[in-house]
Amino acid sequence: MSKRFYITTPIYYVNDKPHIGHTYTTVLADVLARHHRMMGEEVYFLTGTDEHGQKIEKTAAARGITPQQLADEVMPNFENLWKRMGLTNDYFVRTTHAQHKAVIQERFKQLLGTGDIYKATYKGLYSVSDEAYVTETQAKELQAQGLAHQLVELEEESYFFKLSAYENWLIQLYEKYPEFALPDFRLNEVKQFVAPGGERGNLQDLSISRTSITWGIPVPGDDKHVVYVWFDALLNYLSACKDGFWPPQVQLVGKDILRFHAVYWPAFLMAMFRQEGEDLNGELPARIRALLPGTILAHGWWLMGEDKMSKSKGNIVRPDDLLRFGSDAGRYFLLRDMQIGYDRSFSFEGFMERLNADLANGLGNLASRSISMIQRYRAGVVPTAEIFDDLDKEVEEQGRKLAPEYLALAEKHDFSDALDKLWAYLRYLDGYIVKAEPWKLAKDEANKAKLDTVLCQLYRSLRATAILTAPVMPELSQLLWESLGMPGKVGEQRFAAFQYEAPAPGPVADPKPLFQRIDKESVLNEMNAPAAAPVAPKAVEYAPLKENIDYDTFAKTDLRVGLVIDAEAVPKSKKLIKMTVDLGFEKRTILGGIKEAYAPEQLVGRKIVVVANLEPRALMGIQSHGMLLAASDANNMPFLIAPPAEAEPGFIVK
Ligand code: MSP
Repeated sequence: MSKRFYITTPIYYVNDKPHIGHTYTTVLADVLARHHRMMGEEVYFLTGTDEHGQKIEKTAAARGITPQQLADEVMPNFENLWKRMGLTNDYFVRTTHAQHKAVIQERFKQLLGTGDIYKATYKGLYSVSDEAYVTETQAKELQAQGLAHQLVELEEESYFFKLSAYENWLIQLYEKYPEFALPDFRLNEVKQFVAPGGERGNLQDLSISRTSITWGIPVPGDDKHVVYVWFDALLNYLSACKDGFWPPQVQLVGKDILRFHAVYWPAFLMAMFRQEGEDLNGELPARIRALLPGTILAHGWWLMGEDKMSKSKGNIVRPDDLLRFGSDAGRYFLLRDMQIGYDRSFSFEGFMERLNADLANGLGNLASRSISMIQRYRAGVVPTAEIFDDLDKEVEEQGRKLAPEYLALAEKHDFSDALDKLWAYLRYLDGYIVKAEPWKLAKDEANKAKLDTVLCQLYRSLRATAILTAPVMPELSQLLWESLGMPGKVGEQRFAAFQYEAPAPGPVADPKPLFQRIDKESVLNEMNAPAAAPVAPKAVEYAPLKENIDYDTFAKTDLRVGLVIDAEAVPKSKKLIKMTVDLGFEKRTILGGIKEAYAPEQLVGRKIVVVANLEPRALMGIQSHGMLLAASDANNMPFLIAPPAEAEPGFIVK
């Protein structure tokens, strides 16, 4: 049986649309999933949405809809975006799924039974924004950050999870298995939280139910309480796990939610998996470690300048900005520019510069030059290399090292350095071409073997590049793969089976352009262009008023509501339509000069206003028994006067 790899992203709140932060995590997870498939592993990749809790309840209330309606409306934004970004998640979990709810209630009951969950009264401070109780020390920290206004005094009955009982095991987890939370400086923050100053007894029990909200999963047997949103959310990884894939090898999280994942989450799991006789004050059993997530990998934030992105600042980068140049371009940029663990500031200009330098110039140019030379000088047939001089030897050595070095960095989840290394090699190959001057070699048959070597080395390096970058850029790498004359799907290759020097299976194809250079200035101009000026209302020409009439004169006009039941164009007439109009008391033929504005089929079923007592008149040989009312603009374009829907045929209009 092949090795199994279970990878997760956080599940996203449905009170907001996806932004670059969500996109980054989920793309990184996808790259890891694809990478592990190419390592020959059986992969289960999970993402989804977090749909319960106060934030969702409030956002929905503000919009006058139910939380479920809000979730149903927002969830597809995530699901559709992931499709557009080419993501290969195996499942999309929603915490409102019945199956998820059942698991939460079952686990809650289990922990009540073992005494890991108990009921008590909480009295103290509560952070509305974090949906969590806070200690005095935490309150001071929040006050220092100017967030004190989000705290309220609270006294309520609550179910608690015995987090304090797991402190010993947690500390051992971090000490003995430092790969549990990466990068290491993030692990240190976790250790600090669990045991500030290194003393025991600092972790407090965790409240895991709420009576103040209703939008959540009821506590089994006590439905005044709903299960705390983090107990509900974290357990998605368990409820939506595919049989045989437990535990997750890598769980991606942003630095802000590391504490939930590296403290509460393993403690919940320890409580669920521990057996009689396993001493919480003794050594952490290896059996337990093996059932916990392999690594919680915490990344930093995408910032705007120095600032956090936020709706109120209006500085959020939306995924559409990233997708502007194709999903692979966005994927490449996110992976290349973010060093896992650190924050990174985003600039649209920097984004375009990166794409031009690396995709249009770097890889794009090298590929088209190299493949064109193989076509021009060798009719597309890839020659075999012989080593001639030191330069060839160096290129060959570096080329062979490329895949193992790239894969070793990727193994450490360090795609930024892996891609950096790969692109440094591509630049080095540009230099190789300049030095070897194949266009000169081609002029003299005596240099045939040396030219063969140059062309072959370029081919091999590009083929290695296609396969290595397939998880990051599935579409571009496939284009490159096909241009190199390679059969099948590059994403279905296995890294282990890849041989740098394997002979080319056939001739190269025409080089397909990989990435169009972006005209940075014009894109920026387009983005900064002021929105189209509002169209000034057209000056209306008002016809002069007719002479006054007295009421009796007006009252002589009998206006009625009519329903058009049939309509056809009058042959040879530019303007006339013949209609059968139901006036309630009788049906009439009426001609109207409205052909330029209405098609006959648009009229059937329409209610109109008719001058019902107008002397009948023949037009184009047809008797018209009445006239319909229309308003018209300066060009005489008619707009039919429409009575309200409730008015029935025959009603008098006055
Ligand atoms: N629902 C919880 C997670 C529950 S997981 C059991 C949640 N949702 S969230 O939608 O608010 O955020 C999800 C992720 O987006 C977090 O990992 C967070 O770090 C990440 N990001 C939010 N803003 C970000 C950036 N500006 N940059 C990078 N990631 C950021 O928290």
